[in-house]
Amino acid sequence: MIAATTSNLSIQTPKHGQTGSATFQQIKERYQAAGQGHLLSYYDDLSAEEQSHLLQQLQDLNVERVNRIHQKATTCPSPMLNNQAALLAPLPEECFDSILEASSEKSQEWQTIGLNQIAQNKVGVILLAGGQGTRLGSSAPKGCYDISLPSSKSLFQIQAERILKLQRLAQQQPDAVANVTIPWYVMTSGPTRPATVAFFQENNYFGLSSENIVFFEQGTLPCLTFDGKIMMESKSQIAVAPDGNGGVYAALRGSGVLANMAERKIEYLHAYCVDNCLVRVADPVFIGYCVQKNADCGAKVVRKNAPDEPVGVVCLRNSAFNVVEYSEIDADVAHAINPKNGQLSFGAGNIANHFYTVDFLNKVESFEGDLEYHIARKKIKSLDFQTGEVVAPKQVNGMKLEMFVFDVFPFTERMAVFEVDRREEFSPLKNAPGSGQDCPETSRRDILQQHVRFIESVGGKVVVGEDDKQVYGAPSLEISPLVSYSGEGLAEIVAGKSIKTPITIHTLEELRSSVF
Ligand code: UTP
Repeated sequence: MIAATTSNLSIQTPKHGQTGSATFQQIKERYQAAGQGHLLSYYDDLSAEEQSHLLQQLQDLNVERVNRIHQKATTCPSPMLNNQAALLAPLPEECFDSILEASSEKSQEWQTIGLNQIAQNKVGVILLAGGQGTRLGSSAPKGCYDISLPSSKSLFQIQAERILKLQRLAQQQPDAVANVTIPWYVMTSGPTRPATVAFFQENNYFGLSSENIVFFEQGTLPCLTFDGKIMMESKSQIAVAPDGNGGVYAALRGSGVLANMAERKIEYLHAYCVDNCLVRVADPVFIGYCVQKNADCGAKVVRKNAPDEPVGVVCLRNSAFNVVEYSEIDADVAHAINPKNGQLSFGAGNIANHFYTVDFLNKVESFEGDLEYHIARKKIKSLDFQTGEVVAPKQVNGMKLEMFVFDVFPFTERMAVFEVDRREEFSPLKNAPGSGQDCPETSRRDILQQHVRFIESVGGKVVVGEDDKQVYGAPSLEISPLVSYSGEGLAEIVAGKSIKTPITIHTLEELRSSVF
């Protein structure tokens, strides 16, 4: 299959910091030795440019590492052996607190600690936005998605405005630095990067300063058949997929973000998923809680709705912090009740919303080799090596290898877990419109219902106008994050007053003139 005439070809433009160049023969031998020689099957059919493109990919890829990852991911014994009761343990009390149980003085104390850290420019934000959002079915990155709020704001805009507002709130702290900034580190992947960057540019960075938004890209790994063969999406292109949201740790390091954090003297990070429309970006309460606990890593969790709710839980596995997937837990363990409070013993639902010290992020490299990849079985459009055709399969035909952002939990030294109110903080956008759960309609509903609570909780009254269609059961009342980050600052205007829907509030002045 491989033309002799090409056997002396040398690659002159190595990427990614490699300095050497390899001959075609060397690459062929290396891939054959690794059991991946099929990747050159159609080499002779390619144009010179395609040949060089393919060889470059093969040179850049650490095929032996891919084989090792596959080997480890497929041969690891299932962590859920027979004796779950011995293997799993609920979270230790001293590592867990709940905003649902905390006094208002305590939450105020955490908030003040967090705001002070922000006011000292010690806090940054990591956004995980490298996913391809296949279930949602939009071709644009999820953050660009318009969940049909009255304002038509995208998820990116909502999050940017929360950062802007928080910077302004922190600026009012007594010891605030002159120019409070919360740098926003936005992780994209090959498929999401160009559209994400363009969207931010087109929208003028949503009012944030562009030098405080740092885009960085996570890695990719080849897609594999079930017997570990690397797949191709064409005769000259290896099929690759983002390496999971746990790719963030290597990407932070490799792309110079950790160095950027050091330069800015950032000490604490809040990391979250792009698809949670209720996310409290850089939440001062959570940051204050974790700082007070002297935690190196923190996780926000929500209380599981029911023992059989299909959500991973944060708990101890073999005495180390971990997230255990719903499918891994036996029914009796899932149903176990903590006699002290009547809550589920394993009820800390994981929402991938984390706190880290920069020191911890720097330490990840030291144990990265011990982290394991997870297998996601998918339908992957790929080259059929029998026919040379590219096939979109109807059945699952291969796997993507991913790391999860919580895979580092077992390696933390001082973990803190913080339970928050799901209604106020967690509503993920996962599924296509009309699916009824975790979809654009529920995202819209959950934000609007929260804004009604903002008004009502400070003694205001929401009057639903006749022309308000109350789509999905939520009055059409939207309050810009620039007006209120989490309900603060509204009481003096709305207490004892009414506001009529539909209404969209962009500024405090607008709110003042709308109440009666
Ligand atoms: P999900 O696991 O829900 O994946 O990501 P997804 O890509 O958004 O959606 P599906 O599964 O394809 O339908 C949870 C969070 O992790 C990020 C996503 O952007 C989202 O914020 N993520 C996921 C990454 O940053 N990188 C990845 O490789 C995967």
